[in-house]
Amino acid sequence: MPNPSLLILSGDGIGPEVMAEVRKVIGWYGAKRDLVFDVSEDLVGGAAYDAHGTPLHDDTMTRAQEVDAVLLGAVGGPKYDDLDFSVKPERGLLRLRKEMDLFANLRPAQCFDALADFSSLKRDVVAGLDIMIVRELTSGIYFGEPRGIIEDGNERVGINTQRYTESEIDRAARSAFELARKRRNKVCSMEKANVMESGILWREIVQKVHDEDYPDVELSHMYADNGAMQLVRAPKQFDVIVTDNLFGDILSDCAAMLTGSLGMLPSASLGAPMANGRPKALYEPVHGSAPDIAGQGKANPIACILSFAMALRYSFDQGAEADRLEAAVEQVLADGLRTADLLGEEGATPVSTSGMGDAIVAALDASLA
Ligand code: NAD
Ligand code: IPM
Ligand code: MN
Repeated sequence: MPNPSLLILSGDGIGPEVMAEVRKVIGWYGAKRDLVFDVSEDLVGGAAYDAHGTPLHDDTMTRAQEVDAVLLGAVGGPKYDDLDFSVKPERGLLRLRKEMDLFANLRPAQCFDALADFSSLKRDVVAGLDIMIVRELTSGIYFGEPRGIIEDGNERVGINTQRYTESEIDRAARSAFELARKRRNKVCSMEKANVMESGILWREIVQKVHDEDYPDVELSHMYADNGAMQLVRAPKQFDVIVTDNLFGDILSDCAAMLTGSLGMLPSASLGAPMANGRPKALYEPVHGSAPDIAGQGKANPIACILSFAMALRYSFDQGAEADRLEAAVEQVLADGLRTADLLGEEGATPVSTSGMGDAIVAALDASLA
């Protein structure tokens, strides 16, 4: 069997900084667990634009389709703010998601005990939190037609269209129910069926998939605005949340603060199985390129490292090794190590981005002792 292949697209801003720490972890698995990956690297986002005049070169797109999994850092930054919309860094990431058909974006939000006092919410509200947001990723208002900025009489109109087919809703719902069965068996579906036809269809299809194939899973429906409030009021009421592309984007950033920092949230974007049985997959932190802290060694690499843990679990059938990596992260947090986004407590030990990566690798070593 050939080694599993990984394509690393570090991107912009803190992307390359956090990815450097993931590389240490990948190296550790090769050296200490005989889990050797064939790693290749390419450009995405602003970095690709600078080199090729496009945020995703066609060759990179082809390679992404061929590897077992893609790891992505982050894209974007102020340098690219004035570029034409069609070549903005974010378009590169959206093209990857769309052309790989990565319809299920898994965004877990877990509150590590060591960080429970660090959340902007009270300890009791977040301690022990473990929820999974399943965000539909390849449709909805991000991709619906018509779209654009058009002239209408004497003023311009900006247009985007929310559009969902029955099959798009069906497959997102199935992903959520399957995950729930391996967790606490509860799904809450969020939309705005009170004001949007796409929300009415969403609710109907999620209910149908449930009744036909997942009657054993507890299903509830909630308007997404109430969902946002409930996520802050009492997040532990949820197990799996399934929602559309835009609501999922917003709700997952909101959920990030339940864990203490946006720098903690990983994600997996999964599509249909490939010929080798592995799902098409891209793993990336939920956060962006953080231009305000880029180049200063302040970025928290944990979201990106935990994204690699998700790759071990969902692409490479290495659940026990994913558990090991997550436990290593938990250990360094319990030891009081904190990157700049998590400072403020008494007794914490400040570390740089690379200091955090080194500590996680040391904790992996210790797990073998
Ligand atoms: P952002 O997520 O980059 O940053 C928001 C805030 O969180 C900033 O204060 C930042 O310093 C902080 N932060 C984010 N990640 C952190 C980490 N790992 N460690 C410590 N602090 C962290 O969002 P933004 O500022 O709205 O966007 C900046 C750029 O990133 C934009 O161009 C945006 O389009 C892009 N973006 C890309 C992705 C992606 O590549 N997946 C996701 C979100 C935003
Ligand atoms: C995310 C980001 C992206 C999104 C952008 C950068 C395209 O915010 O992954 O959460 O809106 O999906
Ligand atoms: Mn986002």
